[in-house]
Amino acid sequence: METKIAFTPFETIDADALVLIAFEQTAQSHSWIAELVDTGEFAGKLLDSVILHHPNGIAAKRLVAVGGGKADRFTPTEMRQVAGAMVRLLKGKKMRKIAIVLSEAFQYPEYVAAAVGGAILGEWEPDLHKSKKEASGIDEFTVVCPGGVTELADSFTRGQVIAVAQNFARDLGNEPPNILTPTVLARRAAQMAAETGLGCDILDQDRMRQLGMGALLGVAQGSAEPPHLIVLTYTPPVPAGGVHLALVGKAVTFDTGGISIKPSEKMELMKFDMCGGAAVLGAMQAIASLKPSIAVTAYIPTVENMPGGKAQRPGDIVTSLSGKTIEILNTDAEGRLIMADAITYAKRQGATHLIDASTLTGAIVVALGTVNSGVFSNHELFQSRLLDSARMQGEKMWPMPMDDDYKESLKTVYADLPNIGSRGGGSITAAKFLEAFAEETPWIHLDIAGTAWIDEAKPYMAKGPTGVALRTFVHLAQNWE
Ligand code: BES
Ligand code: MN
Ligand code: ZN
Repeated sequence: METKIAFTPFETIDADALVLIAFEQTAQSHSWIAELVDTGEFAGKLLDSVILHHPNGIAAKRLVAVGGGKADRFTPTEMRQVAGAMVRLLKGKKMRKIAIVLSEAFQYPEYVAAAVGGAILGEWEPDLHKSKKEASGIDEFTVVCPGGVTELADSFTRGQVIAVAQNFARDLGNEPPNILTPTVLARRAAQMAAETGLGCDILDQDRMRQLGMGALLGVAQGSAEPPHLIVLTYTPPVPAGGVHLALVGKAVTFDTGGISIKPSEKMELMKFDMCGGAAVLGAMQAIASLKPSIAVTAYIPTVENMPGGKAQRPGDIVTSLSGKTIEILNTDAEGRLIMADAITYAKRQGATHLIDASTLTGAIVVALGTVNSGVFSNHELFQSRLLDSARMQGEKMWPMPMDDDYKESLKTVYADLPNIGSRGGGSITAAKFLEAFAEETPWIHLDIAGTAWIDEAKPYMAKGPTGVALRTFVHLAQNWE
């Protein structure tokens, strides 16, 4: 699907379908839509739509009226959903050329970015390995801003770049675990880095041994697939302010639980346990082309968590890169182990700010469902800035408590730390574990276990990996000061 922006009057746009957004309880400025509202067929409810054939006075073959909901509640998030829903609706109807109109009231950068972004996200399907793909069909999607200023083209490009990167992350999340092993993920990361001009260093098992990454290596030892630590570097053209942001992404290409093995039901979902890493990779792809003013480095520890003759056992004690010893009480709490070493490594490489994205706990799904990602931090101001970016980008995130009382259960007489705490507040004790490695460096942990995957399609998005957190990361990097 090719995406374009146009500044011409919408009446002249040649398309199979021209989409106009109409709002609830407002006077309709187009007679075609006013008539539909009068007859009660359409009220402008968010994502409702009606298709009219051969309407008078426009060049397009069809006019689609789509609801934008209440006009004063129509934010870029609704814009993104409307565009995505239209692509998903119309591609199913074999239309090839689609255009969506942004009236003057919404001709602002974030709406333009959301319109093209939503369309690109809506087009994505998890059918890469199907012999017969869903009929994709759409050749051309145009965002029409009649009379708009040409500077909007920059926002359009930004929306494009970010959505393409998000689909890249979703493609990775969708790959089956036999195909996307840690080695293949590292290779794809290196390939992306070469294409985009990012620096790339992939640490193999030997280097991790030399460095002493015992926590990461302990998880990896049960698998025939060797682990990697993917490090991608973005250096700004004019380095600003000494800020060095580290994005750390959990990439367990498959999580069986190890010796503390998971039940077989729905275990296939655990291919998604690399979605934090995928979001970070996608964010780096976008950052490489949008060139924010701060330095950003990605750290993606990637392993497969398997049981086997060489697997780590409950009761094992490992020494992490930080020097802290960890008693393994549950081999299924592997994410925090690989992230601990990646966080320490990022700090040693000079990170001034750390953000990690991890499908870390089932408990966050209990707490927040599939709506919000959990946010945990040791730094209030940093956290509130991230939450602002998340809100701007329509990624729902909810701050969670981090009282030191939750650390009480992270105690063992045999080592410095156990790898699990009490069952109650399991997402928080997991975050407290990571905090012990972030130490005083400003740090945010996103638990995306509930949000990285949707089991049911939405009108604007296919089922499968969502690419969540990526847009927030890019926004935060681009709007640092
Ligand atoms: N990758 C899982 C988290 C997860 C579980 C995501 C279920 C989505 C659904 C993580 O590695 C894990 O297994 N966590 C354990 C921690 C427990 C052993 C303390 C969990 O949540 O059950
Ligand atoms: Mn696990
Ligand atoms: Zn896991």
